[in-house]
Amino acid sequence: MDHKEIKTWLQENDPHRLGELWQTADAVRRENVGDAVHLRGLIEISNHCARRCFYCGLRADHKEIDRYRMSHDEILVCAHQAVEYGYGTVVIQSGEDHALTTQFITDLIRRIKAETNLAITLSLGERTDDELQQFRAAGADRYLLRFETSNSEIFHAIHPPLGDRPCDRIAILKKLRQFGYEVGSGVMVGIPGTTYDDLANDIQTFTQLDLDMIGLGPFIPHPSTPLGQNVKPAPHDQQVPNTELMTYKTLALARIACPNANIPSTTALATLNLAQGRELGLARGANVVMPNLTPTQYRALYEIYPAKACINETAQQCQNCMRARIESIGRTVGTGRGDSPRYHQRCDA
Ligand code: 5AD
Ligand code: FES
Repeated sequence: MDHKEIKTWLQENDPHRLGELWQTADAVRRENVGDAVHLRGLIEISNHCARRCFYCGLRADHKEIDRYRMSHDEILVCAHQAVEYGYGTVVIQSGEDHALTTQFITDLIRRIKAETNLAITLSLGERTDDELQQFRAAGADRYLLRFETSNSEIFHAIHPPLGDRPCDRIAILKKLRQFGYEVGSGVMVGIPGTTYDDLANDIQTFTQLDLDMIGLGPFIPHPSTPLGQNVKPAPHDQQVPNTELMTYKTLALARIACPNANIPSTTALATLNLAQGRELGLARGANVVMPNLTPTQYRALYEIYPAKACINETAQQCQNCMRARIESIGRTVGTGRGDSPRYHQRCDA
């Protein structure tokens, strides 16, 4: 698909035409990654964050939240729960927390690998090349770092640097590939100021980066952040709305643009539509879900955006809920690690 075609789809509002888009995305998904939906157990290990992203509730300037950091033992309990529930992967996520030292993370990875067969995905923010290499050497399999928007002016405006360290997520994504990770990235749909051209560029960037994993969800304003307060839309009706429908369009187009990637139906989507968001995501291109394993006493504190889905459910409830949702739409629950087929193709080439 070229830029113009992607943009036309993003601006399409005819229900029949959109029905064709959903069908195409679903067929591409089935042909390339099959009917299995892979489960990734999400462990939000720390909500401390040194950064001040204008959209994120965990930003350092947000003083009203209680901060927590899980111990190795607490995290290992969650990892063993993942095994018990039949998940092939744990996703270890946190704010950019510099108290999670290289040693803390490498020891954690080694312990999880020694005690389980789980694949490990890290989502720990912008780390140095040296750290990323050490995490990989310790056994980490995958890394997620969204570039958020391909409009670099907007990205830099809402993403202040830390000290004098330059902030180039695309460069980090390329490094991750070199270091042998399965690489995931993605965007928020409908960031104030972003246009249909920007979003079409985002989707083309997924292809250019040859991503193994693509995560995307609607931008959800958080009232305690700058972007939750002073919203300045893009001019001339070009502002991409941060709606459920626009997120499905982006998801479907991402699937068509990157047929082999693993694409989750995200919590942000479920937040906009608690009843059906996960299922509709899965029916329109997604093949992964990420049930939450974070201990319930920490869940509500990991408030990236408000009214996040799955806050009050226990890990057990999340897993039952996800399985039921997958089976209700005639799909199967994936077994094993659920590596990205794209990653294997690249390794075999
Ligand atoms: N709304 C939606 N998604 C958000 N994220 C951060 N803040 C928000 C928000 N207000 C997403 C970003 C980040 C991921 C961990 O969560 O895309 O990369
Ligand atoms: Fe910390 Fe976004 S400001 S994860």
